Amino acid sequence: MLNGKKILLGITGSIAAYKIPFLIRLLIREGASVRVVMSRSACDFVTPLTLSALSQYPVAIEPFNQADGTWHSHIELGSWADLFLLAPLSANTMAKMATGITDNLLTATYLASRCPVFFAPAMDVDMFEHQTTQDNIKRLVSFGNILIAPNKGELASGLTGYGRMEEPDQIVSILKEHFSRSLDLKGKKVLISSGPTVEAIDPVRFISNHSSGLMGNSLALEAANRGAEVMLVSGPVHELPAHPLISITRIGTAEEMYNECISLFPEADISIMAAAVADYVPQNPESQKIKKSDPEIILKLVRSRDIVKKMGEIKKSGQLLIGFALETDNEIDNAKSKLHTKNLDFIVLNSMKNEGAGFAKPTNQVTILDNKGNSRKYDLKSKPAVAADIFDYLRDFTA
Ligand code: CTP
Repeated sequence: MLNGKKILLGITGSIAAYKIPFLIRLLIREGASVRVVMSRSACDFVTPLTLSALSQYPVAIEPFNQADGTWHSHIELGSWADLFLLAPLSANTMAKMATGITDNLLTATYLASRCPVFFAPAMDVDMFEHQTTQDNIKRLVSFGNILIAPNKGELASGLTGYGRMEEPDQIVSILKEHFSRSLDLKGKKVLISSGPTVEAIDPVRFISNHSSGLMGNSLALEAANRGAEVMLVSGPVHELPAHPLISITRIGTAEEMYNECISLFPEADISIMAAAVADYVPQNPESQKIKKSDPEIILKLVRSRDIVKKMGEIKKSGQLLIGFALETDNEIDNAKSKLHTKNLDFIVLNSMKNEGAGFAKPTNQVTILDNKGNSRKYDLKSKPAVAADIFDYLRDFTA
């Protein structure tokens, strides 16, 4: 299953490094070629000699060989690999990766690599649960790196909790699954709208909504991981994905989102409109701050233009258009009506009635309804898992 795959293994200073020789054996047994880059502190836990003997490649540690001045190129290692696996990944190296610090060959290789990156953290429970580590994990995931989550169990410190690196056989299964997944969107262009819009009332105040952009970001990453070229048009959000196949346009208002999406739409094979666009915007935003001189003021709002509806009108045959529906009541009927009036191929319904679903939550629970009269209700899942379901549905829908 890993036949001919080139796996670059990055090892950092963690006791779990003692499992890596076994991991290399498993990867090679599956047909992969393995090269190792390690941090200096990783050498305290497992010897380069063991690793080079097993991988049959010299192990890269320093940017150059001091004895003969040979240059170990981080670019060469990164471009050789089909996949870069960092295991075990210490809290320290994770923090460097999250902030772009490149003070050794391993971190420079990470920054220069263009292949998919998987990381398997291993550390003590308190380090793992620290907000800094959790933020760094989120940041790495938002860059498109794939987390191999640690397990709960007995740790080298004697404590019990999360922080145990995933077992080598499980890591091999995860990599095998990755390579067996087809790049079913290779050669396709996918347009995704995401996040909220922001409408000025005056230079100080605005109208917006609680959209975090998490669903749109997850869709963008999923599409890019399936080989698509992604055009992400996003309102203001805290995190945006970083992936070589994702180009991002940041917008503020509903009008800006309309203009950007409509201009990109003709290029897109697939358009998924996940943004929470303001339906009503202030008619005349004040150019000066509104002073509190009057006991009450009336703010006149006017309808914004419906982006996805316009796309439905100009859609060419072969273009796929997917909308979202956020409903609080009468969900299925409302979603069906949007599906037809907006000329969508399918619609992803999320109900605000569901506790785990909706704005700014890491999870979502959706029902997909398509224009052939089919529908499918999914369980409550993480937003990346929902994104995978949506693209799986799309693949079956067009099959
Ligand atoms: N949408 C859009 N442009 C707008 C408003 C909504 O493209 N100006 C898109 C959303 O991105 C989503 C779909 O339309 O894909 C449905 O959005 P939703 O807010 O559920 O419905 P609305 O059409 O705005 O209708 P209502 O608010 O009355 O439910």
